[in-house]
Amino acid sequence: MAKIYHKKLVNAKEMVNEAHKNKYAVGHFNINNLEWTKAVLQAAQESKTPVILGTSEGAIKYMGGVKTIVGMVNGLLDDLNITVPVSLHLDHGQSLEMAKKCIEAGYSSVMFDGSHLAYEENIKKTKELIEFAKSYEVSIEAEIGSIGGEEDGVVGQGELGDPKQAKEMASLGIDILAAGIGNIHGKYPSWWKTLSFETLEELQNACKMPMVLHGGSGIPQDQVKKAISLGISKINVNTELQLSFRDATRKYIEAKKDLDDNAKGFDPRKLMAPGAQAIKDTFNELTKMFGCYGKAK
Ligand code: 13P
Repeated sequence: MAKIYHKKLVNAKEMVNEAHKNKYAVGHFNINNLEWTKAVLQAAQESKTPVILGTSEGAIKYMGGVKTIVGMVNGLLDDLNITVPVSLHLDHGQSLEMAKKCIEAGYSSVMFDGSHLAYEENIKKTKELIEFAKSYEVSIEAEIGSIGGEEDGVVGQGELGDPKQAKEMASLGIDILAAGIGNIHGKYPSWWKTLSFETLEELQNACKMPMVLHGGSGIPQDQVKKAISLGISKINVNTELQLSFRDATRKYIEAKKDLDDNAKGFDPRKLMAPGAQAIKDTFNELTKMFGCYGKAK
């Protein structure tokens, strides 16, 4: 009997397979706190959009731990009557221990990022995770090559993925494949010009499965669309929501609304409201670009 902590969370397998078949990409949005999670879930529900909530190891530590996150997400799914498909995913899990801990706590999807290891070691550990996950209804993401830049302490040199490795990883039975294709975490530097579509095409021909575009913030729309047409079925976004939240919060503070004691502008529920709204607006904008907006059945 497959085990899953909560009937409402689903793994990401069906979502990304559907997206791969119909040439769109599901949005993976990194969450940082209650407000973030609530805003993303509300936006997903209002627009009938399937969504993947990503938590980096840094965010897990920040929020208290995996049990807190599973409890918070499951609670919101019930309390907000969320009916669209939602997956709770470990982003860039650096160790098998962490991936297993998330699965046992109730995550419905995990990424084991063995890109910092020798390739043989990456394969060995990914295999071990697949074996472990067999009795759970979770999806598994693995990575070849690496994503440039830094994401919550995970640093990559941005090596392009190797098609032979993509084929071998796919044959292990993973559900989603992340690969270095010239993508970078965080803000794209001014010298950056383009994703490597040649690499993406070779990788897709080799693995023929849903692939992930990490570093999804700030990539020009034409490149996002082209990447989707070449097999990208999941796009990870963290920085762009953080920037939207920052801009809206800055506006509130610059307007000195937090100093309006009569209106209780200091109340955190008021202070964070514009940021939460900005997260929802950015979610809508990006999911329209990715083509997953309104795609929940
Ligand atoms: P950005 O912060 O560049 O959007 O990247 C997010 C990401 O890839 C998470 O895995």
